[in-house]
This record gives sequence, structure tokens and C-alpha cells, in this order.
Amino acid sequence: MNSPDPCSNPKEMAAVNVEKAFFYSTSPKIILGQSGKMADKNAACDQLFGKDTAGCKGQHFKYFIDRIRPRCSGPILPPNGVFRRHLCNDIVVPSDLSSSELRPAITGLDYDSPAFGLVRLRVIEIPNIHPTTGRCAGSLLSFEIDPSLEEIRNAIDKRLAHELMWEVYATSYDRILPHLPFYTECVDRHLNAVNQLGKATVLDVGSGTGIATEMMLRAGHRVTAVEPNRAMLRSFHLKQSEDVRDRLRIIEDTAEELPHLDTESFDVVTVLLAFFDMQDPHSALSEAKRLLTSGGTLIVTEPSLNFNVEHLMKVAEDSLKEQGLLRSLFEDWKNIQSVAPIISNTIRKTQSHTNPRNRMQAFTAESIHENLIDEGYADVVFTPSHAGNCATVIGVKP
Ligand SMILES: C[S@@+](CC[C@H](N)C(=O)[O-])C[C@H]1O[C@@H](n2cnc3c(N)ncnc32)[C@H](O)[C@@H]1O
Repeated sequence: MNSPDPCSNPKEMAAVNVEKAFFYSTSPKIILGQSGKMADKNAACDQLFGKDTAGCKGQHFKYFIDRIRPRCSGPILPPNGVFRRHLCNDIVVPSDLSSSELRPAITGLDYDSPAFGLVRLRVIEIPNIHPTTGRCAGSLLSFEIDPSLEEIRNAIDKRLAHELMWEVYATSYDRILPHLPFYTECVDRHLNAVNQLGKATVLDVGSGTGIATEMMLRAGHRVTAVEPNRAMLRSFHLKQSEDVRDRLRIIEDTAEELPHLDTESFDVVTVLLAFFDMQDPHSALSEAKRLLTSGGTLIVTEPSLNFNVEHLMKVAEDSLKEQGLLRSLFEDWKNIQSVAPIISNTIRKTQSHTNPRNRMQAFTAESIHENLIDEGYADVVFTPSHAGNCATVIGVKP
């Protein structure tokens, strides 16, 4: 059964807003549960710590500490905070705190970021008091960035703008995309390639609202979906049905590094128009190849070198008109139109990413095609898609 839309319930809507305030905060933030696990992290946290946060959500906080410690000087947790005091003895944080713990605990930390150099942080830990029991249910950690560090602050602002773009898009995505023949043909191409392998274990990278994921689940496959965007995930969760849930695993994270997934553990990796949106598509492509079993199929659709957003939007609009849908979907179409130029810029930026290590001069459907041939993938096929603006590349790992 689908879950009800939270917007129809003021209480749930308030909870959504609180979650958004956390996610869109310009300070990196982490929520720690009472058992010491990282319950959540926000977009600014991903931007600051980059790959150091990969796979940390849901893991014990020590896992994150171990990842960042080599780049840190100073205590990562405030010495007088609840977590530092209790975690160093390896015990769960008690729900009854002493009066000295019922206050913010603060420390200074220098983090040598691979992307931004030395970042001076003020780490603030606030015990998370349960609203009904009044007992400690974990902590909220904030990493305040020195205001003079403009580069990282600008990078966070850009990251939040990007997340907001998908928030606009997500609401209209499921209402528009299934009506566009170039999109449904592309999803079918991915699905048919998966179906050829019988019942498969599939990794769907950048699954978005889960349109393709859902179809693969319905076809009987076991799917692990990786998606970092909250709005896309919200739409994904709303359409999930009980009968396929036991074959679905959702990883709410970026795909550049997936340390908890075993090497060669998937029969298929499918990436439908998601690499173009990633900060480091080369790492994500390498990770996809690592996770694919030998003899497994990689299916990737990416924008082509000649991607032209105006052309694609015109094809889409003509198709909606022809089907008599433009009037009823007008608001959604306006949403898609408003983010199209941003998506186009993102594509241009990603396409200019070169990587000498895998000899990719650009990140396009064409360069992925060449790269798979270079690496000895078998049966490599290149199929134009999206009215010639994108292409699907399919290959079998040697
Ligand atoms: C155009 S949507 C495609 C969604 C879906 N594959 C489909 O075809 O309907 C691109 C998706 O890539 C996701 N994405 C962006 N950066 C990512 C990353 N680093 N790792 C995984 N997914 C990412 C975005 O959040 C977005 O949902």
C-alpha cells in the first residue's frame, strides 16, 4: 500500500519541515542516535566531508571518526559532551544525563579537506532530549565553519541550490516523465537488458523517484537503489508497495563510494541519467564497475556530446501537446521548464570532467562507450536515446 501524502496532514507536514530545516542548514550537521549510530547527516555535511562521509549513515559514529581522523587535528567530539564521555568506554549513551551534560558542549577542530584545504570548525554538540520522555535520545552535532572561508561556504550554497532544484523537479517528475515516449523507451531499454538475465540482483544508481526501480521490482528482480536527494526519495517512498518491499534496499547516499557493498555482488548495474548530476562521476563509474560481477551487465544512459536542452524540451512539449496533456500538466511542465537550464549547465560541467587515469577526455555517453571497449567489456552496444540527445551504453564486464 502507498503511504498517504504528508502534505495532507498538518502534523506530518510539520515533521517534513523540521527535516528540511536540518537538511538545508548551511552548517554541516549530524544526528547521533542513543546507540551511537549516525542517524542522519545533512547536505552541507556531505559537501564539507565529501567521500569521508561515504557509507557512514546508519553506521556507528566511530566509523566516521576513523575515516576523518587522519585529516583532523583536535578532538572530533567535544570532550565534555555526552558522546565523547560515554563512547570512549564503548557504552550506549544513558538516557538520564547529569546536569553538567544538559548544555551545549563545544570544541575546535581543524579538518584538512581534500577539496578545500584546512577548514577550521567549531564543533557543537547538543543533547537530543526526547520530546515526550524528557530523556536523552542522542545528540545533534553541528560543525560551524569559519565565516572567512568563502570557498567552502560558496560550495555549500551551491550544493543547497542544487538539492532545491531537484526538490522542484521531483514533484513534477513522476507526472511528466511517464508521458514522454523518449523516457519510457529508455526505461524499457534498461528493463529489457535486465530481464535478459533472468531474476537478477540489480544496483540502480541515482534511482531518483524510483520509476525504473519499481518496474524492475515488479519484474521480479532484487534491487538496491542508491539515491541521495531527499525530495526524490520522498516520491520514491510514496510509491513503494508492500509486495515488493522485501526485494528492495534503499541506500540514501551518494554513489561515488559505497563501502558497505561487496565487490562483484551485482548481476546488473543500471544508471539512468544520473552520472551527469554527480560531483565525481568518474569515481561513481569506477564504483559501479567494482560492484558488478564478472559477466554482469552495465547499462548506462548519459547525455551525448551534442546534448541540446532546447531541442529535448521542444520534443517533450510537442509530445505532451500531441497527447492533449499540456493543459492539464501545465504547472508541472512549468516546473520542468524552470529547472531545465540548470540541468543543462550541470551536464556541460560534468561533460568537461576529464580523468587521465581511465583515459576519459570527457564524461559523455560516447566516452563511456569508448571506456568500456578499452577495458575489454564484451558485446558493447551504443543506442541513441532522448531524440539523439543522450545514448544508452550496454556492456558485459570481462
Ligand atoms: C535525472 S535523475 C534520474 C533518476 C532516475 N534514474 C530516472 O531515470 O528516473 C538524476 C538523479 O541522480 C541523483 N544523484 C545526483 N548525485 C548523485 C550521486 N552522487 N550519487 C547518486 N545519485 C546521485 C539525483 O539526486 C537524481 O535523483
